[in-house]
Amino acid sequence: MDKILIHGGHKLSGSIKVSGSKNSSLPILAATLLTREPCVVHGVPDLSDTQYMLQILTYLGAQVERASGTVSVTAEKIDSVAPYDVVRKMRASVCILGPLLGRCKEATVALPGGCIIGNRPIDLHLKGFEALGASVRVESGDIKVFAPKLTGATIDMQGQFGPTVLGTDNVMMAAVLADGMTVIERAAMEPEVVDLANFLNKMGAKIEGAGASRIIIEGVRELHGAEHWVIPDRIEAGTFLVAGAIAGRGVTVKRVQPDHVRALTDALARCGYAVDVAQDSVSILPNGDATALQLTTEPYPGFPTDMQAQMCALLSTNRGTSSVTENIFPRRYMHVAELKRMGAKVQLEGATAVIEGVDRLLGAPVMASDLRASAALVLAGLKAEGTTEVNRVYHIDRGYEHLDEKLSELGAHIERVKAP
Ligand code: EPU
Repeated sequence: MDKILIHGGHKLSGSIKVSGSKNSSLPILAATLLTREPCVVHGVPDLSDTQYMLQILTYLGAQVERASGTVSVTAEKIDSVAPYDVVRKMRASVCILGPLLGRCKEATVALPGGCIIGNRPIDLHLKGFEALGASVRVESGDIKVFAPKLTGATIDMQGQFGPTVLGTDNVMMAAVLADGMTVIERAAMEPEVVDLANFLNKMGAKIEGAGASRIIIEGVRELHGAEHWVIPDRIEAGTFLVAGAIAGRGVTVKRVQPDHVRALTDALARCGYAVDVAQDSVSILPNGDATALQLTTEPYPGFPTDMQAQMCALLSTNRGTSSVTENIFPRRYMHVAELKRMGAKVQLEGATAVIEGVDRLLGAPVMASDLRASAALVLAGLKAEGTTEVNRVYHIDRGYEHLDEKLSELGAHIERVKAP
């Protein structure tokens, strides 16, 4: 397995460009299954997760071509059965259920496996399909959905920890081809949901209200091909902003939609960092006297759970005692034990991490456990004295396009050691 070595203490400066959004690309690629006609999606990042999605589409019978960030998909004839071997590598493969149900009126998709960041049920997705008239069965590890006809309905996407993002996507993708009107109440408002709705509308769907908590979908008979640019990845952008805060001398993150990272830039400003927001870029200056913060993760537009681990890394050397409460995935704290190995002082109290700022971190061998936890360890390594060795970097490659190369461009001393 590859590992990443970070020789800490080198200041970052300059600018980097953010890639297209992973979490937009995955459902948008799944949505190409909704039409027989060719679709072209630009800005798809080169990640193992997007490759898995393209493998799934190919398995289902779609013609897929990829040239750099542009992916062309023609799903003229498709199968509606995706076995465990095809979907097991990525939990987000669950978002093929909606388009398969919409187009084929039936689907059998293996249940995704467990997830290190906590329990990840899909009850709300299935409840949504049932409301549209589908029968849903879970049998021998497969989800089987079947509906001779889909009929518009009113569906609530709120769960115990807030609205579900991929659940909202899935219901939207099934409802675009239902008879009549579907109203999604308490829908997820994440920018990736808006991006998917924009793509579906380009395909001929009639969706209004995406980005607000009520989405209204007027079903249409069929969809056609479309071309789309996915939005920039707000979590990648955020990760580089935190890199600029933790080890920068002035870092500019380009190709960002500043509104999408507002909760983060507000949090960084509250710690005392100077954040300069332009039309499509955000710059951050260091602050040797940055302070602690009380932070709570929330559904968009609140502070994103996908930036929680990176903030724990940053706050571990800010002056004072911070508290970070994880409201979306209460057990998403696998990075804490690793940060402690580097000298961080963090105590977990239920879903809250209490972080006492220390003067310095020390490089150590650490283990990546999930995508964002791994990013947090790389960020801590930029600040730490000596060398940090991040193992199991395949987690990073799932969601960050060329993270090590981009950090190198900014002046980080970082190298990837390929597995023999
Ligand atoms: N939930 C339910 N029932 C459901 C679905 C979700 O109770 O049927 C709960 C979850 O357990 C969680 C909360 O609702 O507590 C929110 O989960 P959500 O369904 O919104 O997560 P997701 O759609 O599966 C997406 C992102 C995640 C991101 C979350 C939250 C993609 C591919 N994944 O997951 O991204 O953390 O939304 O914003 O879009 C990542 O990129 O590292 C990542 C994990």
